[in-house]
Amino acid sequence: MNDIQFDTLIDSYLTNKVGIDKAFLSEKLSKGLQQNIIQLELDKTMTHAGIGNAKLKDSNQKMRGDKIAWLDKTNNNAFEQEFLAIAEEFITHLNNTCYTGINSYEFHYAVYEKGSFYKKHKDQFKTDNNRKFSFINYLNDDWLEADGGQLCLYQNDEIEKIQPHAKTAVFFKSDEMEHEVMLCNRSRMSISGWLKRI
Ligand code: OGA
Ligand code: MN
Repeated sequence: MNDIQFDTLIDSYLTNKVGIDKAFLSEKLSKGLQQNIIQLELDKTMTHAGIGNAKLKDSNQKMRGDKIAWLDKTNNNAFEQEFLAIAEEFITHLNNTCYTGINSYEFHYAVYEKGSFYKKHKDQFKTDNNRKFSFINYLNDDWLEADGGQLCLYQNDEIEKIQPHAKTAVFFKSDEMEHEVMLCNRSRMSISGWLKRI
């Protein structure tokens, strides 16, 4: 991927704190990653986010209903490797142009089945401030307004709504941007990730 494409994301981020590129991933890569999620679902590899004791898990599920699986280079999946290579190029470009000092990252696939949502939250935990930027890539074809599942970003009494269309990428600062995933009326697929300084 070339630097000009990264600049679409970075320039819109610098303009209003929400980076958006509606044509970030290629059609082929988007389809390949979508297929990976479908397979992970069939294999029952996707698990509800939030592990630990049952009580914690239970309260977590009132907050968020997505199921996740982490990406890993050692999975030896061509699409997954291509995606992570793009993420690494993006990090290099971001560090070179914005002096962000990112030195680590993590990404997971996510599926929100019909009826799922993720209530308003920030991505940086009180106990862990390593997450500097959130970077989300959507993988849904033909998404309609009525399908719900919009990402709502809350900034100074304004709400920005983003449709989770395939190839759309969103980028924002993890510690300050409050956001929410609205109730999904159909299955919604994405890759969510964080650029970290550890
Ligand atoms: C998250 C999250 C938003 C989205 O995974 O923390 O807020 O639009 N995801 O999927
Ligand atoms: Mn989030």
